Amino acid sequence: MQKEKQIIEYQVFNSIEELPTEEQKLVAAAQKATESAYAPYSKFHVGAALLMEDGQIFSGNNQENSAYPSGLCAERTVLFSTSANHPDLKIKTIMITAIKAGESAFQAVTPCGACRQVMSEYQDKQQQPYAVILENGNGTFIKINNVRDLLPFTFSGDQL
Ligand code: THU
Repeated sequence: MQKEKQIIEYQVFNSIEELPTEEQKLVAAAQKATESAYAPYSKFHVGAALLMEDGQIFSGNNQENSAYPSGLCAERTVLFSTSANHPDLKIKTIMITAIKAGESAFQAVTPCGACRQVMSEYQDKQQQPYAVILENGNGTFIKINNVRDLLPFTFSGDQL
């Protein structure tokens, strides 16, 4: 039997200043988006922002519902709305951040499995990898250059 390893590569940035200017703006947009999250049940405000190939930035946040499963994560909110309105524009980077209601510091957050699946499909759709930046707590950030690295052995439409 042969064992194969998948190595995930990522970079750690110890402060926002270490990121390029374009990505600093993306971080700011995602952080700003947490302010409009509708999260009365979890009180966990998530913001997500997309940097597009033409430099535009779009943002979204989590939208909860009293029928809990009807709500949607920030990542899928921004991915679906952007794909609905700009279907041919390619994504360069998605940034994800979170903050608890009443707190002043953004905290580490990683996307749920359903969002990873959706992120992965949009990468397949545009036939070009895009990066993921995650808030990592204490003003630090993690960058993963390819969405696929967050979902090994991904299920995709070509298996249907
Ligand atoms: N949530 C997101 O929006 N994105 C994530 O990556 C993790 C979880 C939301 C869903 C729900 O509104 C709240 O955070 C608590 O799970």
